[in-house]
Amino acid sequence: MEGGWPTVGGFLLCLTVSLLLQGRANTFTINCSGFDQHGVDPNVFQSVFNKKDFRPVINFSIPTRINISFTLSAILEVDAQLQLLTSFLWLKLVWDNPFISWNPEECEGISKISVATKNLWLPDIFITEFMDVDKTPKGLKAFISNEGRIRYKKPMKVVSICNLNIFYFPFDQQNCTLTFSSFLYTVEYISLGMEKEVWEITDTSQDIIQTHGEWELLGINKATPKKSVGTNLYDQIIFYVAIRRRPKLYIMNLLVPSSFLVTIDALSFYLPAGSQNRAPFKITLLLGYNVFLLMMNDLLPASGTPLISVYFALCLSLMVLSLLETIFISYLLHLATTQPPPMPRWLHFLLLHCTSPRTCCPAVPQKGNTGLDHLPGVKEPMELVGKLPGPRETELNGCPGSTRAQQEDKAQKQHLVSLWVQFSHMMDTLLFCLYLLFLATSIVTVIILWNT
Ligand SMILES: *[C@@H]1O[C@H](CO)[C@@H](O)[C@H](O)[C@H]1NC(C)=O
Ligand SMILES: *[C@@H]1O[C@H](CO)[C@@H](O)[C@H](O)[C@H]1NC(C)=O
Ligand SMILES: *[C@@H]1O[C@H](CO)[C@@H](O)[C@H](O)[C@H]1NC(C)=O
Ligand SMILES: *[C@@H]1O[C@H](CO)[C@@H](O)[C@H](O)[C@H]1NC(C)=O
Repeated sequence: MEGGWPTVGGFLLCLTVSLLLQGRANTFTINCSGFDQHGVDPNVFQSVFNKKDFRPVINFSIPTRINISFTLSAILEVDAQLQLLTSFLWLKLVWDNPFISWNPEECEGISKISVATKNLWLPDIFITEFMDVDKTPKGLKAFISNEGRIRYKKPMKVVSICNLNIFYFPFDQQNCTLTFSSFLYTVEYISLGMEKEVWEITDTSQDIIQTHGEWELLGINKATPKKSVGTNLYDQIIFYVAIRRRPKLYIMNLLVPSSFLVTIDALSFYLPAGSQNRAPFKITLLLGYNVFLLMMNDLLPASGTPLISVYFALCLSLMVLSLLETIFISYLLHLATTQPPPMPRWLHFLLLHCTSPRTCCPAVPQKGNTGLDHLPGVKEPMELVGKLPGPRETELNGCPGSTRAQQEDKAQKQHLVSLWVQFSHMMDTLLFCLYLLFLATSIVTVIILWNT
């Protein structure tokens, strides 16, 4: 029994094959004798052409299998504002027409001929994301093989909607979908398959895309979930096209100049705080940065808030902050040299502790004594301001008796001025350090965000 199975199976197989072959031989639908001498006789195809309005099937409960492949030949544009990806692809559809068959042996070995597609039934395979009118050229041809397999290729400029995320611009990757599906035919009528493996599609596409434009094709993936609309179930193939932006242009035109300007801004802290140059210099930088932003606005995506805009805003605010700092220090210095207010005790103390090196600690109290003398409390400012014109008045009066007090006052004032100047410089250094810290933190944060 066990030994008998293969023979029985083999016999059955042979029988089936021979029956099929016989059946096949009887059902050549095209009589192609004379094709080589007289060309194709249109009459022999007429019976097929006449049925082009209907799906070519013998048994209507068997769905037509349509195999799909495509070659992405260019990525033309990615529009972040309209969320559109414009690409160019060659779509290839393959299906069988059971009403076409001929015997190549009878036909001088002709195994495929091309036929105008207007004479054939074409499956209505569309890209769901397609957002433009179909501009498929007229008068395309399709190849028909002697077994009735039809190979139809068409070029398509695909404007497809794609969920673009430009947060990471200009280091962004996009994952766009191209969903091939039939509008009309549900799974009972049309089933979709792959004509090529998806890695082959990726490889050929990557070879074909010659241009080194802004976008680079990373890879193509596919998924084949069925789509249900109401009670109908449609077959579909979803291709995920992953593309990456080449950031060189943006690095050269946006990031480098902007970093230069910020660096100069940071370095301009080394201009002496007392000099009149620092503020105008910073204002000029700020102006330059604004002009730069205006000019480079075209390069930025028109919608959304990419990280780079945040980065620019940070740079701008750093520049504004540094300008404010300069104004503040200038004000402090001006105040210190013209009308020094009395220094609060804690500030004085802090100043002494911060500026004097630890080794010359004994000198600190000595130095401090003179300063602390006239600083019994913070409540004194009015008193001091009142006192200041005092000596001047006496000087004007030319009273020689007050010379000593006047000199003491002067020395005290000078000391106060020097203290305030010292304090201003300290503030300048401190704020510069804070500025650098903020700059470093924000740059590191932005870089980390870009790398994730
Ligand atoms: C094919 O057509 C030719 C005439 O064009 C005819 O002589 C021949 O018998 C036909 N062959 C078949 C198998 O019908
Ligand atoms: C059509 O196909 C279905 C399913 O394969 C089968 O049950 C049915 O008998 C076929 N009908 C004919 C007319 O061949
Ligand atoms: C489609 O592809 C499958 C395998 O992937 C193959 O079995 C089938 O014959 C193909 N059909 C057509 C019409 O090319
Ligand atoms: C694109 O997105 C799909 C699903 O959203 C995912 O399966 C696929 O892996 C993604 N492709 C890439 C390259 O990220």
